Amino acid sequence: MQPLISPSILAADFANLQREVEMLNDSQADFVHVDIMDGVFVPNISFGIPVTEAIHKHSKKPLDVHLMIEQPEKYLASFRKAGAEIITVHYEACTHLHRTIQEIKDLGAKAGVAINPHTPVELLEEVIQDLDLVCIMSVNPGFGGQKFIENTYSKVLKLKNLIQSKGANTWIEIDGGVNLGNASKLIEAGADVLVAGSFVFNSPDPKQVIQGLKEI
Ligand code: DX5
Ligand code: ZN
Repeated sequence: MQPLISPSILAADFANLQREVEMLNDSQADFVHVDIMDGVFVPNISFGIPVTEAIHKHSKKPLDVHLMIEQPEKYLASFRKAGAEIITVHYEACTHLHRTIQEIKDLGAKAGVAINPHTPVELLEEVIQDLDLVCIMSVNPGFGGQKFIENTYSKVLKLKNLIQSKGANTWIEIDGGVNLGNASKLIEAGADVLVAGSFVFNSPDPKQVIQGLKEI
């Protein structure tokens, strides 16, 4: 099965965001991955709602919004309004995760939960049937261009088992350090969506790289 590809705009040239989004429109990307960082949940600040809106204005691809923020429930409606098609919150940032997932779905978006490298997939057992997507972080969130954590493969296998045992219909997304060297092993383990930031945007031919990931 061909993976779905979600290039992370975090690695794009922010001074030429429209051009970068148009490049993705013209590529085989399935989504645009939009990384929101608040400087509290993660030790970095990226951008927020107005920039998401600006990306959405030019994008023909659905926005896959990854909220690396504390109290994400406060901002769900704003990001939905800004054009988010998938809204992913962090397990570690949500005290009332079940409620937050329902709120995302009530807004008409697909609901995702991301888990940090130290968080076991088993903690999602009671909500997996409600989830459209689980994002397994394959780096510690906060920065692009980090090294892929090898333990991710075994988490993908465990999550795939959990999804199948519960009869759930949930995509497995992998975020961080994805490249052509690990993509096929991730797909074999059960990944459905690959996020790639620096591997796509640091290349002289991003569209070709996206095609390469699609065709593994
Ligand atoms: C990390 C972000 C990722 C990041 C991926 O905190 O959530 O989406 O942009 O970038 P690369 O592919 O460069 O690791
Ligand atoms: Zn991300």
